[in-house]
Amino acid sequence: MTTSIPGLLIAAPEPALVARAAASRMGKFIREAIRDRGIAHVALSGGSSPNPAYELLAKEPLDWCKVHIYWVDERAVPPANDRSNYGAAKKALLDRAEIPDANVHRMRAEASDLGEAAAEYETILRKTINDKADGGIPRLDLVVLGIGDDGHTASLFPGEPTMHVTNKLVCAVAANAARGREARMTLTSPVLENAHASVILVVGKAKHPALSRVWQSSGSLDDTPARIIRSFRGQTTWLIDHEAGSFGECKN
Ligand code: 6PG
Repeated sequence: MTTSIPGLLIAAPEPALVARAAASRMGKFIREAIRDRGIAHVALSGGSSPNPAYELLAKEPLDWCKVHIYWVDERAVPPANDRSNYGAAKKALLDRAEIPDANVHRMRAEASDLGEAAAEYETILRKTINDKADGGIPRLDLVVLGIGDDGHTASLFPGEPTMHVTNKLVCAVAANAARGREARMTLTSPVLENAHASVILVVGKAKHPALSRVWQSSGSLDDTPARIIRSFRGQTTWLIDHEAGSFGECKN
């Protein structure tokens, strides 16, 4: 089986250095978007890997008034819940950077009708992002992603239909009791694929098998939805620690 890494790989010996490199890479893409298009539309993932990077991103000298924040996915919990992706980003980034409230576009995944809330979020994306790809798909300037141990990315999970949704920009994801997962809302592959840039953070030994499956030249999207990253149109940057890459220890 051959391996091909789709994009730029930045590997660091430990998670703190991954976070530092990720924040600097995110800052670069945001600055470039503002320079080239006058505005930066950024979608954030949840999970534990990106939070230290968001804290460092808050310290970047950016024109935050020109930055709009969205979410890649959200769990069906209220914003103050510990599992809320919005809540985590609020603590790590929104409370630390001067981002106007009007620029923060939260997914209302706590709504009783998740399908309706997803449709509303699609309307927000269409309205606020003027830059469009073929088919009128809004182009985010930067998407921040992680990869789950099972090979998911965003809330596109192995063996679930959401992976193949192409007629919506945002969709509801059913709860999966067997996997102990609540319902969610997620951006779909057409939006993710058309972003100008993506930053993917992968930290820890448990991620190695999934990461290997993503980097293998052939494989199945149903088994490893994160393989959609291979078809991204924009610049992709992988930020991984040595454990996720199984590179072993760094010796001088
Ligand atoms: C979520 C996500 C999800 C996440 C991965 C990696 O809300 O759970 O957005 O796709 O990025 O599960 O999570 P970790 O950073 O915790 O490894």
